[in-house]
Amino acid sequence: MPVAVVVGMQWGDEGKGKVVDLFSREADVVARYSGGNNAGHTIYQDGKPYVLHLIPSGIFHPDKLCVIGNGVVVDPSALAEEIAMLEKAGVSLENRLSLSDRANIIMPYHCLSDRGRESSSQFKKIGTTGRGIGPTYADKMARAGIRTADFVDTDRLREKFLANYEEKKKVLKHLYGHEIPEFSQLFDDLLGYREILLKYMGDSHAVMKRQIAENKNVLCEGAQGVMLDVDHGTYPYVTSSNSTAGGACTGLGIPPTKIDRVAGVIKAYTTRVGEGPFPTELLDADGEQLRKDGHEFGSTTGRPRRCGWFDAVVARYAIELNGIDAIALTKIDVLDNFDVVKVCTGYRHNGKIIEEMPPSLDVLENCEPVYKEFKGWREKTSGVEDFQKLPDNAKRYIDGLREILGVGFLMISTGPQAQETICLEKLF
Ligand code: GDP
Ligand code: IMO
Ligand code: MG
Repeated sequence: MPVAVVVGMQWGDEGKGKVVDLFSREADVVARYSGGNNAGHTIYQDGKPYVLHLIPSGIFHPDKLCVIGNGVVVDPSALAEEIAMLEKAGVSLENRLSLSDRANIIMPYHCLSDRGRESSSQFKKIGTTGRGIGPTYADKMARAGIRTADFVDTDRLREKFLANYEEKKKVLKHLYGHEIPEFSQLFDDLLGYREILLKYMGDSHAVMKRQIAENKNVLCEGAQGVMLDVDHGTYPYVTSSNSTAGGACTGLGIPPTKIDRVAGVIKAYTTRVGEGPFPTELLDADGEQLRKDGHEFGSTTGRPRRCGWFDAVVARYAIELNGIDAIALTKIDVLDNFDVVKVCTGYRHNGKIIEEMPPSLDVLENCEPVYKEFKGWREKTSGVEDFQKLPDNAKRYIDGLREILGVGFLMISTGPQAQETICLEKLF
């Protein structure tokens, strides 16, 4: 099965970085298709954590090609910083990184606009990462965006940048009272990244086409999660791209008929960063314990993540929307210290039980979870590599999830490091 997509099944931060890094061992190409440096994918390498925001999570394996697709929005300063971080760690990117010539570029005015809107009383606060993601995708759809290939001809780049600059300057001043730095300063800064963008620039569709034609194992790495998808998530409390599996086709230029498998990554409980409905959120000592034991603080912004029990309504929605045929279950070890572990199997709304994700945010905001309870195991599972060595109650919990979801597990993750994994099935 040469082309697989790996997606987050909740509100992001499911452990995609660790899982994709592990699956990369079997892959030839690892390609990001959506989002930008709002993502933070953590990978442990020789016992040290590295957080990747833009570069695919296969980069630590020296023989893998890593592609940043046209569906990704790229902040050149974040890319340069990440490349420098990897080079310092001894990772060579020479002939291994390909950045789409059609990727839209995040400009400083996008970040100012993102933060301006978030702090304005006119709009609902989304709790964005402040990385300029929404305004950059908005410009892309408005056909005003600047793309990697625009850096080839600096005169044309200057023209496009100036047109955008003049517009954004007025809007930022008028709406938020923000002064934008001088044009020449911003343009000079931008040109400082020209060399690095052009060095890695390539045609991601052509790269993917070639790899698929050669029957290579291609892994498409999702960012964020299903519930943050701009169309299918908890709109408007979502990101601005399609994090669901379909985004891999548009975000990399792969025909849908070439995708063989979709795997989902899901935590053994639920977290969310930012605003928006979260039916199983725990605002009590249990939630605090999940945050503490799971080190649930954002990989990108450091914000504390909201925590709650596993939500099977969300998980089933993720399965049907993406066509998920196998799952990587992560962070089971974080549940080691509970007497009771709960799974939400449906929502109660106006006295009725709902088992499917309600399309209306008003309904979702007023849903109460219906729980199935499992006995806790109060034994250490962290680092366990063999399913049979798990405590009986942990096995019952995992089997219970499998039964509720109707999809099998590829792996069960018992810690942040690669070896802390129960491997059950191969991806390719
Ligand atoms: P991503 O955005 O989906 O890649 O996830 P993040 O990297 O933002 O957040 C997941 C966090 O959980 C990271 O700190 C990982 O190192 C950590 N992690 C991943 N899998 C496990 C696991 O099985 N157990 C524990 N305790 N931590 C894990
Ligand atoms: P990974 O790939 C968790 C959330 C933000 C906010 C909303 C919109 O690491 O799982 P944005 O900056 O995208 O406009 O913010 O989306 N968000 C994430 N939450 N993990 C992520 O990525 C996220 N990327 C965006 O917190 O609620
Ligand atoms: Mg993350």
